[in-house]
Amino acid sequence: AGLNAVGKAAGKLYFGTATNANEFQDDAVYGAIINNTRQFGQITPANAMKWEYTEPNPGNFTFEDGDVIRDLARNNGQLLRGHNCVWYQQLPDWITNGTFTYHEMIDIVENHCGTLVGHYKGEVYAWDVINESLNDDGTFRENVFYNATGSDYIPAALRAARAADPHAKLYINDYGIEGTGNKSTALQNLVRELKSEGVPIDGVGIQCHLTVGQLPTGLLENFHDFGQLGVEFAVTELDMAIQGNVTADALEQQKQDYATVVSACLSVPACVGVTVWDFTDKYGWITNGHADIWDDNLQKKPAFDGVVLGFESH
Ligand code: G3I
Repeated sequence: AGLNAVGKAAGKLYFGTATNANEFQDDAVYGAIINNTRQFGQITPANAMKWEYTEPNPGNFTFEDGDVIRDLARNNGQLLRGHNCVWYQQLPDWITNGTFTYHEMIDIVENHCGTLVGHYKGEVYAWDVINESLNDDGTFRENVFYNATGSDYIPAALRAARAADPHAKLYINDYGIEGTGNKSTALQNLVRELKSEGVPIDGVGIQCHLTVGQLPTGLLENFHDFGQLGVEFAVTELDMAIQGNVTADALEQQKQDYATVVSACLSVPACVGVTVWDFTDKYGWITNGHADIWDDNLQKKPAFDGVVLGFESH
């Protein structure tokens, strides 16, 4: 079975994966899997489009690394998700160590988002314009952007992105919004507020870095709540870390948990697709979590069948 093929047959737009260039350039087995559009209909750069790489010095943009990921998707006819425009991590030193007035920071954010999104104009299905802007309690994260502008950097980034590529879907992406709770409520309220103010916002990314056997409470209900917002949403960074030993039971539970998340997306028409945050334990960002759906030797795990099960659950 192919995961993208099964996902599309179930009515979703794509099943996709995050990746880094060295993985598909240096590893032929990995490369063959990611180039198989029956498995993956969508690609997200795990790192290459982040601020530290794309604007390492003020106004000095470098898109070589991002273009490699874009070319992979383009050559295969896979959708591309842009990740990301504004995040408090993986920033260049000139931002992290700088001191900026309100207006300077608004200009910096607008210029970064506008130039980045503009470079990939017409080639990106959706952009994570804003990444991880909320604390776990739902208040705004006091990052370098917030400290200069309050929450005004958020509409500024979204408007600049819209102007740069009117056809890209503009998302706010976060973790800790998989189940019901304060953070999910806060993000839903933020989306409503942006919409009511006429700020361009098209989607919410629910990351889904989860732990086997510990799915958040109210996951399905929460997905339905996000489906009521009048914007689309997507599972953008799915993985499922195993705590402790990789036993047959743990792998079976991991399969069930993948199925539950994919099935929840399937249940809500506003959920357009599912992306895993890389597909193999060989390159997953969680060391020793065995969180992905292919193993260290690029063999399919039970979790692979869990994704199929999820897409075939209705
Ligand atoms: O680029 C340097 C390289 O020059 C250096 O030689 C090497 C040595 O360690 O480090 C490289 O940077 C690493 C970078 O990935 C690129 O490989 C960083 O150390 C490493 O911390 C960084 O990790 C990334 C992480 O974000 C940073 O927070 C992961 O690969 C990436 O998968 C992860 O992705 C995030 C999403 O963007 C947002 N949501 C959470 C998700 C998982 O943490």
